[in-house]
Amino acid sequence: KLEELGVPFKPDTPVKPDGVERGLVGEIIKRFESKGYKLVALQLMHPTKEQLEEHYGDLKTKSFFPKLVAYMLSGPVVGMVWEGKDAVKTGRKLLGETNPLNSAPGTIRGDFCIDVGKNLCHGSDAVESAQKEIALWFPQGVKSVARGLDRLIYE
Ligand code: PPS
Repeated sequence: KLEELGVPFKPDTPVKPDGVERGLVGEIIKRFESKGYKLVALQLMHPTKEQLEEHYGDLKTKSFFPKLVAYMLSGPVVGMVWEGKDAVKTGRKLLGETNPLNSAPGTIRGDFCIDVGKNLCHGSDAVESAQKEIALWFPQGVKSVARGLDRLIYE
């Protein structure tokens, strides 16, 4: 397990299509870097419907599910993996609330958007989901800066 190996937690954080289209990728990277996290994987991607249905598998019954998948298919996204102390929990604080209208100024969503259906950036909600999401979006593996590991171990 990552924790037993002493590897700091790594959230998977894709910038969504609106963030790429609006040219906010650099700003989002800057906020994570300025906070002290290390970028260990970065990829411009055109997700498939199948990948999105797996990524958002637990939301299949929600009324907004088809809209969410269509939005995520509307343009390229930028997948990122960040490494550092408490990265999942703190990463979500940097993002703000799911609904940008509830997000405090100073957070990414609080500063740059107003629509829950276009909320700029996803952040893994737990270490376990981060591991699953990293395996889904970065099947080639991710090298840890902290430990110099060639591949993370996902069990
Ligand atoms: S969260 O972030 O998991 O605590 O919030 P949750 O409310 O469970 O939302 C899960 C994902 O669904 C997206 N979402 C929506 N998309 C479109 N329309 C509406 N109304 C809507 N409500 C929630 C939300 O942005 C979450 O996606 P990610 O990619 O995790 O941000």
